[in-house]
Amino acid sequence: MDEITKLMIEQLRDAYSAEKQALRAMPRMMKKATAQSLKDALQMHVDQTEGQVERLEKGLEMLGGKPGRKVCEGMRGIIEEGQHELEDHDKGPLLDTLIVAMQQRVEHYEIASYGTMAALAKACGQQQLADLLAETLQEEKQTDEKLTQLAESELNPQAIQGMQEAEPANDRRGGSKRSA
Ligand SMILES: [Fe+2]
Repeated sequence: MDEITKLMIEQLRDAYSAEKQALRAMPRMMKKATAQSLKDALQMHVDQTEGQVERLEKGLEMLGGKPGRKVCEGMRGIIEEGQHELEDHDKGPLLDTLIVAMQQRVEHYEIASYGTMAALAKACGQQQLADLLAETLQEEKQTDEKLTQLAESELNPQAIQGMQEAEPANDRRGGSKRSA
C-alpha cells in the first residue's frame, strides 16, 4: 500500500470517529433545545450523519482499509467545549443560540476535513471516492447554511428579545440596591 493511500485511510478513520462522536452529541443537544425548529434540524442531521458514516465505511473499503479505533481529537475538543456550555445554561432562547454555535463549529470542522479529503482523492485518481466524499461535503454545507438561516430568522431575535425583557427587571433591582 502506498503512502498516499495510507494517509487517506487515516483521514477517513479520523472522519469516521468525528461522525460517530457527533452522532452521540446531537441527541444531547436536542434534549437541551427549546425551539422545535432547532430540534427538527438536529434530528434531520442525525439521519443524514448515519448515511455519512456508511459512506465512510464504503470509502475505507474502496481503499482496502477499515474504521479502526482512531479517535478524532479535534472533534472531541469541540464537543467537550460545547458540553460545558450545555451544562452551564438553563434551557431557553439563549441556550438555543449556543447549541447552534456548537453545531456550526462541528459542521465547519467536517467541511474542512471532507473538502481536503475529496480534493486528495480526486488528485489520486480515486474519482469514485471523491464523489462519495463530495456528497457528504454538500450535506454538511447545507446543514451549516440551514443553521445560519434558523439563527438569523428565529433564534437570535428570540434570544435578544429575551434579554431585553429581562433587563428592566435587573435595572429595578440595581436601583433599589443603590437607594437602600
Ligand atoms: Fe455534520
